[in-house]
Amino acid sequence: MNIVLGVGGGIAAYKSALLLRLFTEAGHSVTVIPTQASTKFVGVATWEALSGRPVTNDVFDAVDQVNHVRIGHEADLIVVAPATADLLARAAGGHADDLLTTTLLMARGPVLFAPAMHTEMWQHASTQANVATLRSRGVNVLDPAVGRLTGPDTGPGRLPEPEAIFAAAMALLGSPAPEALDTAQTCEKATEQPESPAVKQGSLSGVRVLITAGGTREPLDPVRFLGNKSSGKQGVALAEAALAAGADVTFVHAHMEVAAPAGAKLQRVETALELRAATLAAAASADVVIMAAAVADFRPSNVSQGKIKKRDDTADPIINLIRNPDILLEVVAHRAAANRRQLIVGFAAETGDEQGDARSYAEAKLQRKGCDLLVLNEVGPGESGSERVFGQDSNKVQILSLDGANPVQASGSKRTVANAVVALIAERLGTT
Ligand code: CTP
Repeated sequence: MNIVLGVGGGIAAYKSALLLRLFTEAGHSVTVIPTQASTKFVGVATWEALSGRPVTNDVFDAVDQVNHVRIGHEADLIVVAPATADLLARAAGGHADDLLTTTLLMARGPVLFAPAMHTEMWQHASTQANVATLRSRGVNVLDPAVGRLTGPDTGPGRLPEPEAIFAAAMALLGSPAPEALDTAQTCEKATEQPESPAVKQGSLSGVRVLITAGGTREPLDPVRFLGNKSSGKQGVALAEAALAAGADVTFVHAHMEVAAPAGAKLQRVETALELRAATLAAAASADVVIMAAAVADFRPSNVSQGKIKKRDDTADPIINLIRNPDILLEVVAHRAAANRRQLIVGFAAETGDEQGDARSYAEAKLQRKGCDLLVLNEVGPGESGSERVFGQDSNKVQILSLDGANPVQASGSKRTVANAVVALIAERLGTT
């Protein structure tokens, strides 16, 4: 396949050399188009040597070959990594002032952006608006990874690992190697996991699946929020399993520590109320709804316009909370009101206590919520004393059914668990 690798002007440009290697070793022909600024980080000679092809960013080079039209036309896939805030803005604005932006305008195949920038730039309203514009046009924009940035700062803005970008790119080309899909969500190989029984290809062909994932964040003031430990890994694994089964996936996600799944229609939200609006809208046309998001049950009743200051002369602040709506309950109610055929899957993160074990709490939650299936995760410290589920690469669940069918057990990598959920959904829909 012909892949164009656009390289933006960020320090992470050096990581794209490894990405280029992954593409060429997988047998793809790669044309690298570095922006002018990026050549201050990695020079043209490196790209020429690694790709074995001439490299330029000047539309007036080799004019006889009409590069600004031809390269985009011939590309089966365009990957931009790192995508800087400036590049995202220029792409969203339809600029055509260098070889990379003209190529993006000529693209007829899938386009994948892997952003990398400082957290403030990523979270800036302009960048978020540009990302939303691109995504609304069907462009795939990965969420940046969370971690150490160029300076001493840490936060969202890190370029996803080359293996994760590679996996996302391969999924767009329709050849997702199963092991590549697993690395896409974890960015690293988990310790030895039992083999993941593959999902049956086509078992969800044409089925519209809505998946919510990640953890909502409820603002307290312009810099603080109430959040939770959800990494989004299980939701991403579910999306990838559903995509591999042929589903048409809408992925509504709050904060995650991993890249969003390539190939799904993505919608990024922040708070429980935003998640509610996006979920209820998308659920109206979904055959299956999977509520894997960790939704904050409460939000601060007042969001301070200015940063809450610590002053010696005032008492410590008290945060008043109000209840957020229960989205899963509403999805179930809307299905009943619309008399819609829809399979609804909830998740329950439970701990046991002296009044009952995690399973009995989950059984009660299943009855209360009225969804068809409930995936029970036992959370909290395991035998070794470390956290069992949140942020981990593996999971152990029981899938409970409202109709009283025997629970299905699944354990292993989060993808293995996702495959089990997808297989059960296909069985319930009769599409296996
Ligand atoms: N959920 C939701 N809206 C909420 C809270 C939870 O849609 N406001 C969904 C979650 O996405 C999940 C399921 O409900 O699919 C169960 O979430 P969980 O946090 O385990 O349960 P809660 O309803 O919050 O109950 P509790 O915290 O009392 O155990």
